[in-house]
Amino acid sequence: MKVLATAVAGLELRELRGEDAAQYHELVQRNAAHLTKLGDYQDEVAAGVEEFAELFAEPVEVPVRFGVYLDGELVGRVDLVPVDPPKYGLGYWLSEEATGRGVATTAVAALLEYAGTELHGTDVFAGVTHGNVRSDALLERLGFEVVATFDNYRRFHHTLPL
Ligand SMILES: CC(C)(COP(=O)(O)OP(=O)(O)OC[C@H]1O[C@@H](n2cnc3c(N)ncnc32)[C@H](O)[C@@H]1OP(=O)(O)O)[C@@H](O)C(=O)NCCC(=O)NCCS
Repeated sequence: MKVLATAVAGLELRELRGEDAAQYHELVQRNAAHLTKLGDYQDEVAAGVEEFAELFAEPVEVPVRFGVYLDGELVGRVDLVPVDPPKYGLGYWLSEEATGRGVATTAVAALLEYAGTELHGTDVFAGVTHGNVRSDALLERLGFEVVATFDNYRRFHHTLPL
């Protein structure tokens, strides 16, 4: 299992695997209102354990789906989306009780370090629904810039390595 260290002791990213599906599903259900308050993550909340088990067990050339573990406890997820390597999409969410402490920023920074150095990624893109100010702030902290504005969301971009 691939494990990525972060800049913070006790915070690490671990590749998600089929056996993590039940724990992940439980975390999503506990955070259903938090995840869907801007209309996003409807499919994630509707998905059952089996769907996550299948997804996490899918063979991938390189690990791209990681659980965020804080002192050994699963508190969120970060993903690289290999739509057009070496260009990647980015996804991230954090359990509500773990927010407000820089955990997501640190986790995403570690994922992007991995994307740049181990996957030789050149660009990363993220789409943020209008009004998701916490997500806007996270990307701005990491130096992302807005490159396009659509009806429902803005597209952010950062070159790699960070
Ligand atoms: C988007 C999301 C991950 C942001 O979470 P977050 O907790 O605001 O982000 P971080 O964990 O990086 O924490 C940042 C906060 O910790 C503070 N902080 C403390 N120490 C910090 C540090 N070392 N580094 C960065 N921020 C730090 C920041 O000031 C900020 O606080 P503020 O919101 O009061 O300004 C979270 O709101 C979420 O999961 N939302 C639902 C899913 C979602 O929208 N995902 C993104 C889709 S594009």
